Amino acid sequence: MKLTPAQQAEFAERGYLFLPSVFSPEEMALVTGELPKIFGETRDEVIREKGSASPRTAFFVQTWNPVFAMLARHPRLVEPGMQLLASDKLYMHQFKVNAKAAFDGAVWQWHQDYATWYNDDDMPTAQAMNIALFLAEANEFNGPLMFIPKSHREGRLAAGHDTVTTSYPLWTADNDTITGLVAEGGIVAPKGPAGSMLLFHGNLVHASGSNLTPWSRWILYLSLNRCDNAIRRFKRPNWIANRDFTPIEMLPDDCLAAFARERRIAAA
Ligand code: SIN
Ligand code: MN
Repeated sequence: MKLTPAQQAEFAERGYLFLPSVFSPEEMALVTGELPKIFGETRDEVIREKGSASPRTAFFVQTWNPVFAMLARHPRLVEPGMQLLASDKLYMHQFKVNAKAAFDGAVWQWHQDYATWYNDDDMPTAQAMNIALFLAEANEFNGPLMFIPKSHREGRLAAGHDTVTTSYPLWTADNDTITGLVAEGGIVAPKGPAGSMLLFHGNLVHASGSNLTPWSRWILYLSLNRCDNAIRRFKRPNWIANRDFTPIEMLPDDCLAAFARERRIAAA
């Protein structure tokens, strides 16, 4: 899937791009049908919320689930990354599903992803980004992602290592920094149905609140990095900061529908 020049210009200006309903309800039914199985697994890659059995994140799912393996190579997710990062040689730095579970989903503090990729993984430059796919509706109540538009233009900001607020350590920005950035750019929270996509720059400042609703807010994140910008420190487990820098080879655009068809035939 190719972005138009106007979409690429919007991304450069604001640091993000929202594309509603890119995947069909049928495709999303196949994907979301896997989630109970994924979050039901007991394994290192499935992180729980602090003090709770509710799932927070499932990492590296493309290596242990066949449907998510296709999403990691899906042209509607990967090709826009190639355009925006100006390279057809990208690898998967990180791949995760964030649950933001009904009633229990906890916050993600204000941060830039590149702060963590730099401080923990020694990624040379911010030429990496996130491609997010909504696996459930994100609405104003269930802890949608919040962005500070244009904050990516500030470059990498000072960050502190927060290991206490949630079950997942993160390099975060302080309140004064956020206050200044919000005075300039405001806050947006793109909302839409499952199948919508959000593309955002590695230096865009973002966060999300807790989820007090009965609606889980599942989001899949592909963190794509240029192969010539590979990380140089291997402090975090491979399933959080991937050390396999093999370029992603895309699958056909109809791979999910074809898989669902084959599964139906096999089950008949
Ligand atoms: C993240 O910033 O990595 C996740 C934020 C969210 O899923 O709300
Ligand atoms: Mn983030």
